[in-house]
Amino acid sequence: MAGKLSKEQTKQHNRACELVDMEPDLTIEEREFVLDHFHESANMGRTLDGAFFTPAELAGELHHVVPGDRIIDLCAGIGRLAWHARDYWNRCWERLPPREIVCVEKNPEYVKVGRRILPEATWICADVLDVPGMKLGPFDCAISNPPFGRIKRNGNAPGYRGPLFEFHVIAVAETLARRGAFIIPRESAPFRIETGFVSQDSPAYERFHRETGIKLRPNPGIPTDEYRDQWRDASPAVEIVVRNRDEDEFEAQAEQAARAEQEAVTSRPRKPKAEPARVAPRAAQPAGFGGDDGDTLFRKGD
Ligand SMILES: C[S@@+](CC[C@H](N)C(=O)[O-])C[C@H]1O[C@@H](n2cnc3c(N)ncnc32)[C@H](O)[C@@H]1O
Repeated sequence: MAGKLSKEQTKQHNRACELVDMEPDLTIEEREFVLDHFHESANMGRTLDGAFFTPAELAGELHHVVPGDRIIDLCAGIGRLAWHARDYWNRCWERLPPREIVCVEKNPEYVKVGRRILPEATWICADVLDVPGMKLGPFDCAISNPPFGRIKRNGNAPGYRGPLFEFHVIAVAETLARRGAFIIPRESAPFRIETGFVSQDSPAYERFHRETGIKLRPNPGIPTDEYRDQWRDASPAVEIVVRNRDEDEFEAQAEQAARAEQEAVTSRPRKPKAEPARVAPRAAQPAGFGGDDGDTLFRKGD
């Protein structure tokens, strides 16, 4: 039942809260403990505003499709996606500077916890629908596991007028970054991942695409169902969808070039077919003796 914690979960959640309230900075292990054991519904007795934190392993998968140096996490919770999106060890190994991360979350309690887990990120306690007016961008990539479905909201994201919160968040992300990676309910995705990816009809996505022009692409094969029993208080069927405006533009240019070439071929004037030349019959010649054109070994007068 949502919000009903076992004795052990309550003990660990309370320990996580103690760590959050402690004075000194937390160690890496302590931050991970808080991420793993702070329970989204513990203090409310139920989950509010579609708050279901992403399982650690699924968040670890999403980070593979996050490019760039400047990342924004919309509806960040306590920072699970952002934690993995830092790509910390890989970037240390490659001697790259740390990624700059901005987290936006509406619930002040989650923001307080998030600031302790990821103090190096910029935390903004705000409604995601107010973000387009904040001039935070541009970012290399936006990430989100937003609330799903018909969540109560104060307004609309640019372009989208439908009822589904996940699409409002993606439309907000579009104002901030050319790339994106989002966890959304499977029925809102234009594909599902099986052994490869399979296109599927999603009237909700079609409406979103029609209203915003935003195209969502499949990921390289992240098997989200493998983590389905790792969510707390829920086991949603989800897909990770990818936004890539660079690839959209590249495809549009390639299509335009192919169309232009096709038009050039069809509009090129056709050469009239040449009449076969009439050759006047000649008098029989001795073998090896050419005509007037001098194309034989023996020439006249030789
Ligand atoms: C599904 S949870 C995911 C949290 C986090 N991204 C993660 O992956 O663990 C959605 C989060 O969105 C937050 N949220 C709900 N409505 C919001 C809004 N209007 N603006 C910003 N955050 C919101 C919730 O408080 C919750 O933390």
